Amino acid sequence: MHIFSIFNTRRASADGILKNGIYFDPAIVGKPSVMAAKASVPTRQRIEVRFLNQHDLQNLMELERAVWDETQAASVTEMSVRITRYPTLAIGAFCSETGRALASLFARPTSLEAVKRARSWQDCVNHDDSEASRQKALFGISLSSIDGDAAKAIFAFFWPHALKNGWQEMYLGSPIPGLRDWIRDNPGQAVENYVFERRKGLPRDRQLCYYHKKGFQRIVAVRREYFPHAASMNYGVVIGGRIPLGSLAPLWKRLPLPWLQAMKQWLFVLQ
Ligand SMILES: CC(C)(COP(=O)(O)OP(=O)(O)OC[C@H]1O[C@@H](n2cnc3c(N)ncnc32)[C@H](O)[C@@H]1OP(=O)(O)O)[C@@H](O)C(=O)NCCC(=O)NCCS
Repeated sequence: MHIFSIFNTRRASADGILKNGIYFDPAIVGKPSVMAAKASVPTRQRIEVRFLNQHDLQNLMELERAVWDETQAASVTEMSVRITRYPTLAIGAFCSETGRALASLFARPTSLEAVKRARSWQDCVNHDDSEASRQKALFGISLSSIDGDAAKAIFAFFWPHALKNGWQEMYLGSPIPGLRDWIRDNPGQAVENYVFERRKGLPRDRQLCYYHKKGFQRIVAVRREYFPHAASMNYGVVIGGRIPLGSLAPLWKRLPLPWLQAMKQWLFVLQ
């Protein structure tokens, strides 16, 4: 089992990863000596990140129900199929004390053409695998999180694997939960005006802004009836980003995964 774990330590090293199968992330966490000295400071929740398996389903469903309503949530069967079909593109972050699922990410291979052609999230999720297998792009089927650190840890875990496997870009469909209120205040205006509006260089919509900060900065399409989401008036914005240096895929394939993991704080910001 490959576990990416964050907690308060800076003892991380590539050797440590190999010896223990556990990766301690120096980029996100604090210093153990400080934490040990200040026993009264509450220790941050320890988060373990790993690829998902069928035993995680019930746990994942609790997370799913916490962040999606019943028209949006995946069923157990759908989730099980994602894990079976794309086992290295199904990742979860768990509280190592309680085992509770804190965040999950599901992706699938795709192509820019397929993403552009798709009218809805269902189209993106269900298109033919054969076309995608020749491509180097991923589509993010679902990101669910109840803990911002857990979501960060998932991406930090995922980028080295993505590079190692030759993936060079990633797309996803984001809700735009500020749209309904914006339309109320700006009747008759085009949705695109809202989508492309910037404040201090960042998207006005909070969820687009969230993804922008994670590197998903390219707007590919604005789709109506994309996904049931009342606050977004069922609109979705298809966004994407390139994994930097992804074009050096032959090099990354030769580098050991722990090296890539150690380099991730410099490399793995989407462009
Ligand atoms: C979107 C999501 C994955 C973000 O989870 P997270 O990494 O734990 O981040 P948080 O929920 O702590 O939000 C981080 C920031 O983004 C903003 N944000 C992200 N999504 C938002 C949304 N839908 N509405 C309002 N704000 C949102 C938050 O307000 C917060 O901003 P702040 O730091 O200025 O307070 C999580 O909110 C979620 O699972 N939402 C429901 C499902 C969903 O929309 N998934 C993504 C589909 S593409």
